[in-house]
Amino acid sequence: MELIETKRKYIVNCFLNKGIFIPPDFLDFLKNDQTIENIYDIIKKDEDNIDLKKLSTKLLQISPIGESQQKNNNDILVKFSYEDQPLKKKVEDFILYFRERFKSLESIMRGRSELQNVVSINRITNKRERENISIIGLVSDKKITRNGNFILTLEDQTASINVIVNKSKPELFEMTKDIVFDEVIGVTGVNGDNIIFANNIIFPDIPLTKELKKSPDESYIIFLSDLHVGSEYFLEEKFIKFTNWLSGKVGSDVQKEMARKVSHIFVIGDLVDGLGIYPGQEEELTIKDIYKQYEECARYLLMIPNRINIIICPGNHDAMRIAEPQPPLYEDFSESIHKMSNTVLVSNPSIVNIGKREGFEGFDILLYHGYSFDYYIRNVESIRNNGGYDRADLIMKFLLQKRHLAPTYSSTLLVPSRDKDNLVISKVPDIFVTGHIHKTYVSSYRNVTLICGSCWQSTTPFQEKVGHHPEPARVPILNTQTRKVKILKF
Ligand SMILES: [Fe+2]
Repeated sequence: MELIETKRKYIVNCFLNKGIFIPPDFLDFLKNDQTIENIYDIIKKDEDNIDLKKLSTKLLQISPIGESQQKNNNDILVKFSYEDQPLKKKVEDFILYFRERFKSLESIMRGRSELQNVVSINRITNKRERENISIIGLVSDKKITRNGNFILTLEDQTASINVIVNKSKPELFEMTKDIVFDEVIGVTGVNGDNIIFANNIIFPDIPLTKELKKSPDESYIIFLSDLHVGSEYFLEEKFIKFTNWLSGKVGSDVQKEMARKVSHIFVIGDLVDGLGIYPGQEEELTIKDIYKQYEECARYLLMIPNRINIIICPGNHDAMRIAEPQPPLYEDFSESIHKMSNTVLVSNPSIVNIGKREGFEGFDILLYHGYSFDYYIRNVESIRNNGGYDRADLIMKFLLQKRHLAPTYSSTLLVPSRDKDNLVISKVPDIFVTGHIHKTYVSSYRNVTLICGSCWQSTTPFQEKVGHHPEPARVPILNTQTRKVKILKF
């Protein structure tokens, strides 16, 4: 008995001496004599060279944290997740891609009462001057004239035409300031000589009639993003504090009760810090091997009780192409995460339905890491002047109005697919979740809950240089019965 206790202490000390945290459940796991013997033998066999971090991940994977080791993701329905199509891209793919984008956004707009009598642009020449006209087009250019009016060039599949937005219409003029290249809009106005004088501009937007769905029973969904494991700025202590709360180890009775009812955690990209993402990053990494970064990340995710399902999409720091849509995390890099019994890996962007059961259709959740955000913070006046990086909600609302996650072609890198623009927001979600800018924000737009995750990394010199104000270790948590969102601080 005493010998077993000595071996147990030896194992714990080995981990602690290497600075490897051991969650309380794992210590319970070390109550079994045979387990202790086995682990002791493994470590002793190669005491000097053994990779204890790797061993701890493996052990966490088999230790029964939480109540169940069974994959229990019956209430998760992946409605859209992009799978890589390793086809070589040709120029015509781009043409087809834009055609698809136009078609899907046009069909969203066709239903609008203001756009009942839309004509194709090539038919405008048949119209009389000063006749009222409605068109739908992709914005291929936007300029300001010498007189201070806007000229938009709109294109559909048939032709293109210029549209004048006069500064004497202040509301319309203000709206036009936020129009970006390549978005699809509707215009109603008066026909001139090969030009349209705009009276109204219509965005695809989301309907006002979206129902605010509420689940019949109370549970909680948590939204995380930007863990950046591997960075020297990763906030391990805070993350462990968070998982300790989830495991019911810390917090008031009310907080513990809340933790008990957490059913799902979403992780919206940037699980690891990656390699070669920005100049000089290497000096800020504690783990310089991408496989080990994911291994370490799995170790932290394994500290989350196993009864909670974790839905994960990648971000621009993850080990894969940056071009969107990004497929789910590759298994060869992140094997330990794939092997976890409670993870579901999806693409960026993706749509996941959760909580569906008899009498309740579940919540549709749109996940998008947010790589395009930087562009809109820089280029859209109303976002830049009203908080920029501090107001993820403004960007998210802007994208919902455009019904596109990256309307301007150059705002993100993308892989064009011939049959579908995967970044069009074709179905209105119940909850729209993002990350990337390292500062949480919760809001709502026309009954769509907007949530941006925070981060688990303190401010890096790079972020300071580019003017970010990260607010790490905040956890937005949504009550499924009331649809209210709280932000917990760790
Ligand atoms: Fe990011």
